[in-house]
Amino acid sequence: MEIALIIIVSYLLGSIPSGLIVGKAFYGIDIREHGSGNLGGTNTFRTLGKKAGMIVTAADILKGTLASALPIMFGVDGQIDPLIAGMIAVVGHMYPVFANFKGGKAVATSGGVLLACAPVMFLVMVVVFLLSLYITKFVSLSSIIASIVAVIYAVIAKEPLLIIVVSLLSLFVIYRHRANIKRIINKTEPKIKWM
Ligand code: G3P
Repeated sequence: MEIALIIIVSYLLGSIPSGLIVGKAFYGIDIREHGSGNLGGTNTFRTLGKKAGMIVTAADILKGTLASALPIMFGVDGQIDPLIAGMIAVVGHMYPVFANFKGGKAVATSGGVLLACAPVMFLVMVVVFLLSLYITKFVSLSSIIASIVAVIYAVIAKEPLLIIVVSLLSLFVIYRHRANIKRIINKTEPKIKWM
């Protein structure tokens, strides 16, 4: 029963469309009608500025972290691993019931899962992401690079469940960045200007 509850709550947590909420509540804007059309932190930065972008990114990270903490909070982490609960939140983030199943690109919420389950790995991925961003100026490409390096990290760590979950999260990230990959190839993907 608790496991079913955790699966539902994790999915619902992940489904909270923070970009949509912040955009509509504080700026009267539907973030999906601007920039890349994505409701994630990057498009919020792009459309509504640094403050809103940071709030949305933090909220999206928190969704993954909180979902991963649920099994421990309910005392059933022996039956459902925090990594699995976190991954369900990422599915909610990508296909949110509260936003017509059109959600984000899995990056920040996956980061939140790592923050809860593998904090050192999370910090390493933040460094990889920022270094890639400094070099390429593409948030999307940096997200993809960090997600691939995360798989390599998990393989080196030799933790079977971490390898499986991180590989799935990485596939989610790459799949959700299909349009970005096409734009990078066509040279139409926007670069960040502030780094
Ligand atoms: O986290 C999403 C980011 O990697 C790309 O977002 O809005 O540029 O498609 P966006």
